Amino acid sequence: MNALRNSYSVFGLGKLGASMAAAIASRGFPVVGVDVNQNAVEALNAGRAPVQETGLEETIRANRDRLRATASHRDAVLNSDLSFVIVPTPSDQRGAFSLQYAAWAFREIGRALAEKHAYHNIVLTSTVLPGSTRYGLLPILERESGKRCGPDFGLCYSPEFIALGSVIRDFLNPDFNLIGEFDERAGSQLEACYAEIVEHGTPCRRMSIENAELTKVALNTFVTTKITFANMLADLCERIPGGDVDVVSGALGLDRRIGGRYLAGALGYGGPCFPRDNVALGFLARAIGTRADLAETTDRMNRSMPGKIVELLRPEIHRNTTVAVLGLAYKPYSHVIEESQSIYIAEALSKAGARVIAFDPLAGEMARAELCDRAIVMDSVAECLAQADVVLLATPDPVFRGLHAEDFLKCGRPVTVVDCWRLLTAELAGHPRIRYIAVGRSADDAANAARLASLWDGAVGVGA
Ligand SMILES: NC(=O)c1ccc[n+]([C@@H]2O[C@H](COP(=O)([O-])OP(=O)(O)OC[C@H]3O[C@@H](n4cnc5c(N)ncnc54)[C@H](O)[C@@H]3O)[C@@H](O)[C@H]2O)c1
Repeated sequence: MNALRNSYSVFGLGKLGASMAAAIASRGFPVVGVDVNQNAVEALNAGRAPVQETGLEETIRANRDRLRATASHRDAVLNSDLSFVIVPTPSDQRGAFSLQYAAWAFREIGRALAEKHAYHNIVLTSTVLPGSTRYGLLPILERESGKRCGPDFGLCYSPEFIALGSVIRDFLNPDFNLIGEFDERAGSQLEACYAEIVEHGTPCRRMSIENAELTKVALNTFVTTKITFANMLADLCERIPGGDVDVVSGALGLDRRIGGRYLAGALGYGGPCFPRDNVALGFLARAIGTRADLAETTDRMNRSMPGKIVELLRPEIHRNTTVAVLGLAYKPYSHVIEESQSIYIAEALSKAGARVIAFDPLAGEMARAELCDRAIVMDSVAECLAQADVVLLATPDPVFRGLHAEDFLKCGRPVTVVDCWRLLTAELAGHPRIRYIAVGRSADDAANAARLASLWDGAVGVGA
């Protein structure tokens, strides 16, 4: 494949695929996007972003002459050299990733390959479990095309490690590229493509397809384990006099073997990717005759986090208590509420008998549809604070960082503030009219000291 003539197709113009298509075009390559959703095809062809993502619309507009979309898999295969397939792989009932959409895409790609004489490289980017690409999808390609993987076409598994909200930046500046290859030819070609697209000098790791499939899931599982470890520390700190998770994890993170990222100690993780990967790894391990206890424990601990907050607030919840949940997306700057811990908390608080009101700078509309009659989603923080007896700061959104004690007291009665991310400690800790509870910090030093002291009472064994 000549560097000047590389052309790409991207199957699936969703949260990841649309940004990848635009990013590749921004490097000067022609890209055909493919989607079964006509709205996504029309949006891209009209120079609009099919999904909400930072910088996507601008990147599409700036590269319109190299970017087009179609609903025809055939058109895309025949008019490109390499195809990235980034269709959904939703969790199935077993906790594995369903290949339903990928199988459909591979069937159409296979049929198009039957008509193509030139070598074509197919790269699966969707998250899948080990074995899916070779044993689940490759047979479809060979059957539908009547051709053989290796001599006739290439196959790789190459996932991305991106965060929603910075997909384009993360795709173009990755820590490394991961290539699982069917054979040397397919892997070398994809590595050469990445070298032209991503930041110069990005390391590339090439390996078997199965090792790459495992690496993808392992990476997310490791990060979520780190988050959960910090949440465990936060829990311990709440029961130690003067305990402060920021102090402990701040020092811990200085050790280069550990590093400071993902050690906040606050609420659990959420979103479309992290929560399902531990479940899938647990499923895989059991299915192949071993166990992934660590992944399953991480998942269980994470799912227990909303319950911990509800238990913390239970003594405050009486008839007519209004609790305001501030932050409903799974992270700041996002409209995504999938597996959001604060959505689960809002639901559980409502079930526990509280009147729940809520606000999010971007996710209000989605949350309103999800929560229905279990919570009233307001249009501003001020509206929430005017009615709340208890305020829960559930995401570290800058909007919430800017709040002052007066904002909480406008309702004219004492208020309890639970600050999951310790955004307002300097402003609210020790305030005479606000009961301030910071997750990850000791709230009752005397009781914590008494409990800790009782552990050692008479246990030291040195007589007076
Ligand atoms: N979103 C993330 O942060 C992220 C990160 C890493 C990996 N992933 C993985 O990438 C994959 C896609 O995720 P997403 O978030 O972009 O999904 P998405 O649901 O936002 O988008 C998928 C798109 O694929 C389209 N599609 C479905 N079947 C198709 C077919 N046969 N042919 C062409 N298009 C088809 C859908 O219409 C949709 O537009 C998943 O496996 C996901 O786990 C996502």
